[in-house]
Amino acid sequence: MIIIIFIVLSYSMLFVPAASSVSTIKVGDQLNITPKLVSPATNFTLGFFTTPDSTHTYLGIWYTDDQQSRKVWVANASTPIMSTSTVLMIDPVTAKLIISTQGTTLVNISDNESGPTHSNLTATLYDTGDFQLKNETDNKILWRSFDYPTNVLLPGMKLGTDLRTGRKWTLTCSLNDEIPNSGAFTLSWEPNQRLMIRRRGQPYWTSGDLNNQTFKFMTLNSPFYKYSYNLSYTDNDEETSFSYHSLNGVRPMWILTERGQIFDGENSLYFSFHEFCYGYDLGNGCVAGTNLSACRSADDKFTLLSGDFAPGMTERTYVDDSSLSFSDCMVRCWNDCGTCLGFTTGANGTGCASWIGAKSVKFSGDPQGNSFPKYVIVSPESHKGNDAKILIWAPVVAVIFLLFFCFGLLWYCKTRKFKREEKRQKDDDRHMLELMDSSDTERGGRKGSDMVVFSFAAIVTATNDFSDENKLGQGGFGPVYKGKLCDEREIAIKRLSRTSGQGLVEFKNELVLIAKLQHTNLVRVLGCCIHGEEMMLIYEYMPNKSLDFFLFDETRKVLLDWPKRWNIIEGIAQGLLYLHKYSRMRVIHRDLKASNVLLDESMNPKISDFGMARIFKQDETEAMTKRVVGTYGYMSPEYAMDGTFSVKSDVFSFGVLILESVSGRRNTCFSFHDKTVNLIGYAWELWQEGNALQLQDPTLADSCVVHQLLRAIHVALLCVQENAMDRPVMSEVISMLSNDTMLLHVPKRPAFFFGTIASKSTLVEGKLECASISNITITQMEAR
Ligand SMILES: *[C@@H]1O[C@H](CO)[C@@H](O)[C@H](O)[C@H]1NC(C)=O
Ligand SMILES: *[C@@H]1O[C@H](CO)[C@@H](O)[C@H](O)[C@H]1NC(C)=O
Ligand SMILES: *[C@@H]1O[C@H](CO)[C@@H](O)[C@H](O)[C@H]1NC(C)=O
Ligand SMILES: *[C@@H]1O[C@H](CO)[C@@H](O)[C@H](O)[C@H]1NC(C)=O
Ligand SMILES: *[C@@H]1O[C@H](CO)[C@@H](O)[C@H](O)[C@H]1NC(C)=O
Ligand SMILES: *[C@@H]1O[C@H](CO)[C@@H](O)[C@H](O)[C@H]1NC(C)=O
Ligand SMILES: *[C@@H]1O[C@H](CO)[C@@H](O)[C@H](O)[C@H]1NC(C)=O
Ligand SMILES: *[C@@H]1O[C@H](CO)[C@@H](O)[C@H](O)[C@H]1NC(C)=O
Ligand SMILES: *[C@@H]1O[C@H](CO)[C@@H](O)[C@H](O)[C@H]1NC(C)=O
Ligand SMILES: *[C@@H]1O[C@H](CO)[C@@H](O)[C@H](O)[C@H]1NC(C)=O
Repeated sequence: MIIIIFIVLSYSMLFVPAASSVSTIKVGDQLNITPKLVSPATNFTLGFFTTPDSTHTYLGIWYTDDQQSRKVWVANASTPIMSTSTVLMIDPVTAKLIISTQGTTLVNISDNESGPTHSNLTATLYDTGDFQLKNETDNKILWRSFDYPTNVLLPGMKLGTDLRTGRKWTLTCSLNDEIPNSGAFTLSWEPNQRLMIRRRGQPYWTSGDLNNQTFKFMTLNSPFYKYSYNLSYTDNDEETSFSYHSLNGVRPMWILTERGQIFDGENSLYFSFHEFCYGYDLGNGCVAGTNLSACRSADDKFTLLSGDFAPGMTERTYVDDSSLSFSDCMVRCWNDCGTCLGFTTGANGTGCASWIGAKSVKFSGDPQGNSFPKYVIVSPESHKGNDAKILIWAPVVAVIFLLFFCFGLLWYCKTRKFKREEKRQKDDDRHMLELMDSSDTERGGRKGSDMVVFSFAAIVTATNDFSDENKLGQGGFGPVYKGKLCDEREIAIKRLSRTSGQGLVEFKNELVLIAKLQHTNLVRVLGCCIHGEEMMLIYEYMPNKSLDFFLFDETRKVLLDWPKRWNIIEGIAQGLLYLHKYSRMRVIHRDLKASNVLLDESMNPKISDFGMARIFKQDETEAMTKRVVGTYGYMSPEYAMDGTFSVKSDVFSFGVLILESVSGRRNTCFSFHDKTVNLIGYAWELWQEGNALQLQDPTLADSCVVHQLLRAIHVALLCVQENAMDRPVMSEVISMLSNDTMLLHVPKRPAFFFGTIASKSTLVEGKLECASISNITITQMEAR
């Protein structure tokens, strides 16, 4: 009997907390540190919570089923509670909602001047997330949490001004993710019907006009978003306010972040386009600064980099002031004219560490990310720490350039002399042989930086007279053969057929280019051979063929595990960066694709086929062509449609390559379920839904490093954005790939230019077709 009573007792005791899933407290009730209030339909929970460093306790509200327990409201965030013996109650004497400990009021949560002492008051948490103190006798709301927003705007919550009382409804950001104390930014609704973010009271950003359910400088209600919002505003004698409702969301919340952006907790995206506003960039809603420091150039930006300044050249100072948050540190550094080079905040996101030094002090990147990352002011033309590469390559390039020039001159003289001679064909060979001899002597042991002119006879022997079994494949401008020189060296020979369309112009182009380009991730040209009308390029031989040979083959793709693919992605990025930036000339490849990425014996990638590459002068950034060359599926929309190309066209192709490497599927011949999107579109949809991991090639299941994979997909989506201006440059791509902590922008809609290739009815045909499409380079296309 006693046992039964005991069981019954303990049973009921166990369920006391569960049974306490009440939504209302009355006068006399006390809610202590463990039990929570839960709204009637269980949408929201209210209770005490403790910060991760377990020093401070707050009273807050959160979505009951939010895995991250993001707080949508915090009571009196600037007065944290240190004691654990605190209770929430309605003070019967003052008729206020209070947090008290052992009979002492710590905080008056509600601020109304006390009415007469009264006992018929309740405080209720509603399913809207609103917590209200009510006088039950006349059903009047005495206080409500919606009137005191913190950093989250919930559906139905107002931003604006109550004109009767003068109360302003504004969001204030928290100090950081963990500490809810007020930070530097506020979000308000302005009389001119715009949202405005202020930084310490100064206008910082505006949303632009509200139009057709979206704001000019916010991405709202994009058809690609899973959830959408119904925006509304009120403008009358009583109030001017803005609010929204979620049409299909589960846990809608708009969060004002501690870095002054508006974050959509539902879609996990930033609504606003800006990352930081500097006062000079006005295109994305940023407000012109009144105090644009004269010492900063109008393109300087803070970038999170891992690495260090040259040792001994900077002084690190630390201001231990817990009221200074990220953005205060940034502004202090920005305004510290000429001497502040970079900053970070202290460990809990407060306090500022700055690096002080001369502007010229070099920053060396640390791709491994071992050193403490910091925000460094980067001017667009500074080299982000890769200057060392230029120093290494410059002499090499110079030597090759010189050598090439000499050869060119020699060759030119010889041909002219030779033209006067009659025995054309025979002398051709002899001439090449002579050149080879002279180059051998001239080389004088400068191994590795030489370019050889091969005799036609040597090439014929090496390839067994261009026999079919030595044929490696068909390049854009002619067949490629494998060959073996008498010294056992293996070479690849690209034979440029007379009918191929690659004339002397392209040949010279490629020769000039390749001779000057030297990088581990670019295929190396060993020499050339000219035989009458026929021209040949001799490359180093790549035993593992090209990337597409492995990537798109069900059995061979297993050989490319994730570390190899990551290495390939990084290698291509380095090769492209070199082409775009460090190769002395600005080279645009224009035909980057999986079949133009060759693999050496250890699967290191090497970019090949420069037949269509274009050299830009350093000051030239964009060009137009009537002759659109490139490959279907890799061509950026602006290039394919208007013939405009820039480094960003290569970036686009690179983004496609990443997606292909991650998924093991071709961009062009892709269909899933019944939808007719290409790989880019599919990746975008998955990413929008938060399911980007599904893009992963199933064969990567064992070797995959999830955060790297997701980062790769994120970077890829940034690279394939519709607007070329939005795409990053290769140096940024490399920092993004190599730096795990670097903040990435939210990609905008990608170009869906090839979205309708595999239509449902022609799926079988489409498959056949795409196998050929994706391999063949389009050399002529009508420009519009
Ligand atoms: C709370 O409000 C009462 C008056 O209603 C005041 O006497 C008291 O000092 C306040 N307590 C705190 C901690 O602000
Ligand atoms: C607590 O918050 C209320 C608003 O809910 C405010 O009126 C009051 O001044 C705050 N008290 C403190 C001590 O911050
Ligand atoms: C509650 O309402 C009753 C009836 O209107 C009123 O007498 C009382 O003063 C109110 N109490 C408070 C705290 O406002
Ligand atoms: C509460 O949650 C349910 C289910 O998620 C939802 O249908 C309902 O609209 C929510 N109520 C409010 C007031 O948000
Ligand atoms: C409290 O208010 C309710 C609703 O008006 C009323 O029915 C009830 O009698 C009141 N209780 C007291 C103690 O005044
Ligand atoms: C208390 O404040 C609310 C607004 O938050 C207001 O509507 C109400 O009239 C006030 N009540 C008293 C008794 O001052
Ligand atoms: C408003 O936006 C919708 C899509 O969000 C679009 O279909 C419609 O044409 C737009 N209307 C105007 C007037 O811009
Ligand atoms: C949006 O809200 C307005 C008023 O709040 C309402 O009239 C309209 O029907 C809503 N639109 C949708 C699509 O729910
Ligand atoms: C502008 O700079 C001056 C001095 O440098 C400073 O006192 C003032 O607060 C700044 N104003 C703004 C809007 O930052
Ligand atoms: C952050 O840390 C510093 C010491 O590093 C401390 O003084 C400060 O109180 C902390 N701030 C908060 C809000 O926890």
